[in-house]
Amino acid sequence: MAVLDPPRLRRLWSSTVGKKAVMGVTGLLLLLFVTAHMLSNLKAFISPASLDHYAAWLRTVLDGALGHGGFLWIARIGLVVCVVLHATAAVQLARRARAARPVRYRHRARVQGDYAARTMRWGGVILALFVVYHLLDLTAGYLNPHGVQGDVYNNVVADFRLWYVTLFYALAVVSLGFHIRHGLWSALQSLGASAAARRAWQATATGYAVFITAGYLSVPFAVLTGLLR
Ligand code: HEM
Repeated sequence: MAVLDPPRLRRLWSSTVGKKAVMGVTGLLLLLFVTAHMLSNLKAFISPASLDHYAAWLRTVLDGALGHGGFLWIARIGLVVCVVLHATAAVQLARRARAARPVRYRHRARVQGDYAARTMRWGGVILALFVVYHLLDLTAGYLNPHGVQGDVYNNVVADFRLWYVTLFYALAVVSLGFHIRHGLWSALQSLGASAAARRAWQATATGYAVFITAGYLSVPFAVLTGLLR
C-alpha cells in the first residue's frame, strides 16, 4: 500500500507534523485502552465472578483463530508499540522545540506551558513506573499479597487493603488524569481552533479526565471503605 511505503513513512516520521500525528494516533489508541480497562474494572461491583470471568474471557476470546491467549498477546504487543512510539515522539518533539530556541530566556516566567510540559514529562515517568509495578502485581502476581493466577477479584481486594498500595495506585491514576487532560488540550492546540471551540474542548477534556480518574479510583476506595471485600 502506498501509505505504508517505507521511504514515505520515514519522511513522515522525520517531520514535526508526522511526529505530532503519531503522538495523536497512539495517544488515542492508549486512551481507548485506558477507558476499556477502567470500565472492565467496574465489573468488581457486579460480583467477584464477573471480574474473574472477564479476565478468563480475555485469554480465550478468538481462541480458534489466534490460539489460547493469542488475542491478549496481540493487544499487549500493540500497547507496547503505542507506548514506545508515543514516548519517543514526545521526547523528540520536546528536543526540537528546545533546539528552535537556542538562546534561553534570561528571566523565564513560570507560564502555563512550562507547567503543562513538566506535568506531562513527570506524569509520563510516574505512569511508566506504575505500569511495571502493576504488571508484577496484578498480571504476574509476584508483588501481590494474594497473588493467585485467575483469582483476579481477590488479588485486587488484597492489594487495596494495604493503604500504601492504595496510595500509590491513587497517585498513578491522578497522574493519568492530568496526562489525559493535558494531552487532549495540546492535541487541540496542534489543530488550532476558535476561542469558543477551545473553551468547549477544554471543558470536555477536563470532564473526560475526571471520568477516567474517578472510575479507576472507585475500586480501591470501595475496598478501603469495606464496600468491596
Ligand atoms: C485502580 C486501578 C486499576 C486496577 C484495579 C487495575 C486492575 C488490573 C487487573 C486486575 C489486571 C490483570 C488483568 C488480568 O490478569 O486479566 C490489570 C492488568 C493491566 N492493567 Fe490495570 N488496573 C488499574 C489501573 C491501571 C492503569 C491506570 C493502567 C494504565 C495506565 C493499567 C494498565 C494495565 C495493563 C497494561 C495491564 C496488563 C494487561 C495484560 O497484559 O494482561 N491499569 N489491571
